[in-house]
Amino acid sequence: MGQGPSGGLNRQGDRKPDGGGDKKEKKFEPAAPPARVGRKQRKQKGPEAAARLPTVTPSTKCKLRLLKLERIKDYLLMEEEFVANQERLKPQEEKAEEDRSKVDDLRGTPMSVGNLEELIDENHAIVSSSVGPEYYVGILSFVDKDQLEPGCSILMHNKVLSVVGILQDEVDPMVSVMKVEKAPLESYADIGGLEAQIQEIKEAVELPLTHPELYEDIGIKPPKGVILYGEPGTGKTLLAKAVANSTSATFLRVVGSELIQKYLGDGPKLVRELFRVADDLSPSIVFIDEIDAVGTKRYDAQSGGEREIQRTMLELLNQLDGFDSRGDVKVILATNRIESLDPALLRPGRIDRKIEFPLPDIKTRRRIFQIHTSKMTLSDDVNLEEFVMTKDEFSGADIKAICTEAGLLALRERRMKVTHPDFKKAKEKVMFKKKEGVPEGLYM
Ligand SMILES: Nc1ncnc2c1ncn2[C@@H]1O[C@H](COP(=O)(O)OP(=O)(O)OP(=O)(O)O)[C@@H](O)[C@H]1O
Ligand SMILES: [Mg+2]
Repeated sequence: MGQGPSGGLNRQGDRKPDGGGDKKEKKFEPAAPPARVGRKQRKQKGPEAAARLPTVTPSTKCKLRLLKLERIKDYLLMEEEFVANQERLKPQEEKAEEDRSKVDDLRGTPMSVGNLEELIDENHAIVSSSVGPEYYVGILSFVDKDQLEPGCSILMHNKVLSVVGILQDEVDPMVSVMKVEKAPLESYADIGGLEAQIQEIKEAVELPLTHPELYEDIGIKPPKGVILYGEPGTGKTLLAKAVANSTSATFLRVVGSELIQKYLGDGPKLVRELFRVADDLSPSIVFIDEIDAVGTKRYDAQSGGEREIQRTMLELLNQLDGFDSRGDVKVILATNRIESLDPALLRPGRIDRKIEFPLPDIKTRRRIFQIHTSKMTLSDDVNLEEFVMTKDEFSGADIKAICTEAGLLALRERRMKVTHPDFKKAKEKVMFKKKEGVPEGLYM
């Protein structure tokens, strides 16, 4: 036994004054040495373990082991000193320091993002994150309390969840994506026919933003929004793009399905956010395409998902004529299934104007053909009248598809000009596909 245990005892005796009882001492031991590499610690445990074993025989073996371990300890001490010296003498000491601080930073992250629900007092608040329950947490002193308000996005420490910062830009990233920065290329000139529709949408959406006094003079309130409806491919989205192109107001574009969110309450929140941003950036136009994704009739929804979608729609209703007046915000909705929409959404006061997009008549067809062939090189034998006067039902999108398809056929034979037979074949193909039910969108 000899040296082993006695060495241990000695050490214990040394530390007793600042430590406490024996057990405490032992637990305390590993934490006591300042931060160092793992190997060193393992080394320290060596004699400790030997000290804890009271009867180890034969003692010579024990001594041998102790000797061996002590030599290892010496070696490691030397190594540590060497490494420390190396580090001290290193020219890029600052770099190491930088790295260490980086590691420290990494240890601190990630911070979770949450919502401030309620401020309790100077230093405490109730917060929630999108996944879980609400927490009562502390607010760190360096957080600017003036900027905290219920509902704002905050940064929370990922373990203790206390508030460590505020996210300045609390606009939902989804909403900022919706803003149309670059005007679409389509203009009113690219729309064939639809004069009445263009007129109506101008009156309902653009004029109130540019000349509100006209409506005041007459003494009516300008409509809040319009809905564009009609067969697929009749130019609803096209017209909305043209509005975005010509207007100087902010144009926000959403697709109905984007409003359906993963977590409960996120969809309605997004709608609120959308209208709030629209209000901030007013005058603005909000365009919601394919509104049937959220606006379908309310019936006894079975699944939670359906109910959530309905709540999103209800929020939309609320935003359209809620308590907060949305002065300079106009709404354009588009759908090809107006009959499936909830009547509440369409009642006057919310969406006052319903603009129907019929299938093009002969004049319009001619115009659309002109628009889409204007940039094509046609040979002299092309007689578009034949297609204009046909009995088949075409939508604007079909006409575009025919023109594209004819161009592709000419391209296949490496011809520079598109001929009449090309158009004929293209038309047959498009009509055939249409009957088969293949979406014309393929030719978009
Ligand atoms: N009146 C038109 N004048 C010129 N092009 C048209 C016209 N109508 C449709 N088109 C062409 O058809 C394409 C599809 O139209 P659009 O995207 O507006 O259809 P939509 O009415 O929104 O259909 P959906 O209901 O399926 O969304 C347009 O890109 C455009 O090239
Ligand atoms: Mg569309």
